[in-house]
Amino acid sequence: MTSNHSPPTPRDCAPHFAIAIDGPAASGKSTLARKLAQHLGLIMVNSGAMYRAVTWKVLREHIDPRDTAAVISLLDRIQIHCGHDGIMSTITIDGTEPGDELRAPAINANVSIIAAIPEVRMHLIDLQRGYLQHASIVMEGRDIGSVVFPNTPYKIYVDAAESVRAARRVDMGEVDSIAQRDAADSHRSAAPLVVAEGAAILDNSNLSIESGVSAALEILRHQGLDTC
Ligand code: DC
Repeated sequence: MTSNHSPPTPRDCAPHFAIAIDGPAASGKSTLARKLAQHLGLIMVNSGAMYRAVTWKVLREHIDPRDTAAVISLLDRIQIHCGHDGIMSTITIDGTEPGDELRAPAINANVSIIAAIPEVRMHLIDLQRGYLQHASIVMEGRDIGSVVFPNTPYKIYVDAAESVRAARRVDMGEVDSIAQRDAADSHRSAAPLVVAEGAAILDNSNLSIESGVSAALEILRHQGLDTC
């Protein structure tokens, strides 16, 4: 992993710790993780962006996402650098920042296929774990509490009603078949979306963002984190 910039005020604890935020698409994981990172002085890592970045590269190279061997061979030919800019994680592939292109409909439609490939997951999990060598983090994704950091005591599974999640995507102006993506992410054999052992479930269907953050901080206090 490379760091682009020093964060403003990361909590530089030794040993570093990870807060795992998992949940389905559009459940509000990213917003919650970002707010928690701001509140606690940690770095927020969006692991979904890493799967999206590999998908971006696959499509850019005109590789069929279902051609698993071709996707795996691409992994040896791309340079992925993960870093952070302030509290936010960043990712570049071969020196290029994919940026907003990661949210394009073609990425939404194909990312679950790429994320189901075990070799892709192993490649990215190494990078995800690498963040802990530098700082304490809030990482959001699908398998953070179950596979990436199974031993962290700080785990939240964020959920919301499917209708609420679909409406959030529409509000964001995004084309995203979240039900289809959730089914693919939950039923794959490699690290499916599950409620990790020890995770507390936070349903934010009827919560404002700020109420969701307060509820998450309360959960983390119960899990033993000093949130002051
Ligand atoms: O969080 P997101 O919607 O940006 O994630 C995009 C896709 O990446 C998601 O459909 C499944 C995959 N993903 C994953 O398999 N494991 C993670 N830790 C994060 C994301």
